[in-house]
Amino acid sequence: MAPAVPKPREPFEARIEGFTHDGRGVTRVDGKVWFVEGALPDEKVVVRPTGGKRSYSLGVAESILEPSASRVTPHCTAFGVCGGCALQHLEYPKQLSFKKANVVENLEGAGVTVPEKILELQAQPWAYRRRARLGARLVPKKGGVLVGFRERNKSFITPLSSCPVIHPSVDRVLVKIADLISQLTIPDRIPQIEVAAGENGTALVFRHLSPLTPGDRTILRGFGTQEQLLIYTQEKGPETATPIDPGATPELFYTLKAFDLNISFSVTHFIQVNGAINELIVELAVDWLAPDKDSQVLDLFCGLGNFSLALARRAGRVLGVEGDASLVKKAGENAAANGVANAEFEAQDLFSDALSDWDPGTFSHVLVDPPRSGALEALKTICTKAAPNALAYVSCNPATLARDAAYLTGSGGYRLASLAVADMFPHTTHVESAALFVRAP
Ligand SMILES: C[S@@+](CC[C@H](N)C(=O)[O-])C[C@H]1O[C@@H](n2cnc3c(N)ncnc32)[C@H](O)[C@@H]1O
Repeated sequence: MAPAVPKPREPFEARIEGFTHDGRGVTRVDGKVWFVEGALPDEKVVVRPTGGKRSYSLGVAESILEPSASRVTPHCTAFGVCGGCALQHLEYPKQLSFKKANVVENLEGAGVTVPEKILELQAQPWAYRRRARLGARLVPKKGGVLVGFRERNKSFITPLSSCPVIHPSVDRVLVKIADLISQLTIPDRIPQIEVAAGENGTALVFRHLSPLTPGDRTILRGFGTQEQLLIYTQEKGPETATPIDPGATPELFYTLKAFDLNISFSVTHFIQVNGAINELIVELAVDWLAPDKDSQVLDLFCGLGNFSLALARRAGRVLGVEGDASLVKKAGENAAANGVANAEFEAQDLFSDALSDWDPGTFSHVLVDPPRSGALEALKTICTKAAPNALAYVSCNPATLARDAAYLTGSGGYRLASLAVADMFPHTTHVESAALFVRAP
């Protein structure tokens, strides 16, 4: 039987003692832990209870009686409701300290010795999102079509007239997108719009659950021309994303200037969300690994070749490995288009149960950039078979980085030599970090 949820209580005053990794204040009342949305450490707040379980309670900060010195006025009027950002009320420099503490706590909790100096990579904290998924919903009683991010912990859409973190080419048309969907014959059948901004244009991919009429297509095409946006429609899975004007739709790209690379991508392909931070992380990883013409480099979870192609500018040979065959193909095309002849790409499921049978050969250097679930299976194979001298690990989840680092610094035979925290997702609680492991003496 599910534990009984405590009865809602009256609002009460509390002093906030801590901060969770997802940005909620923590307090204790009568020995019970409360997680309080919108509260910062050291603040005295009025907590309005919202629910909970037997072992903890949930609330929101209804008013702030004694604000923290780090509290700032959020930039966005939808902050607190919109699920896109969680930290706009915390002054920006403190956000990175909070993320750094998250990485350190996870690593130390897993028994990994952390270097004294931790690098911080930051770029401008607004208008950085070049990849996003906007939700859309027809809600007649709220005035029509709503377009925005989902509400925090809910499936409702927060209608946005503006968004300070999304790419400016999309920010300026948020209201117009809602109007545009209202004009279609199926305003209730467009659940989401994918955003992909390259350096040569921005694409909007309209997912539609019912067929579009020729008239709908004309309206979408007209919008694209008027707003100078590339319009795509998507009937089913990501592979069905199709430009509405195939002849007039260039392929999007971003650049890695330090390596003289143009990386092309399809609108539904994975690209790192924040272009400026991506460039800094790629430069850092290449710097850390410092490959030369005698180096053999393995790039696991290589995607479009973001790290592989940069590494190939310095190394003798690079092998990029990736699970998505369309990304593998694109990585090969990116190599050819950039005149990179020393990089190859291979499709491999790096979470496969049969990974222990896979033998990529020996490599002097390895880079891993896995999804949130980490890379433990792949690392076990790599440490025994590829046996690199140095391994750079780029992570979007401090918990799996810590687990994998514990393996690498334990039976893997490596030591954590350098650590960096990068603000890939300012104002959110997402944490990007990078770690360099070198063979322990
Ligand atoms: C964080 S992204 C990194 C991509 C690339 N390194 C970059 O910088 O753009 C993680 C990558 O892991 C790939 N991936 C996810 N599951 C996988 C699997 N089971 N086997 C291999 N690759 C996988 C995704 O397709 C994605 O390209």
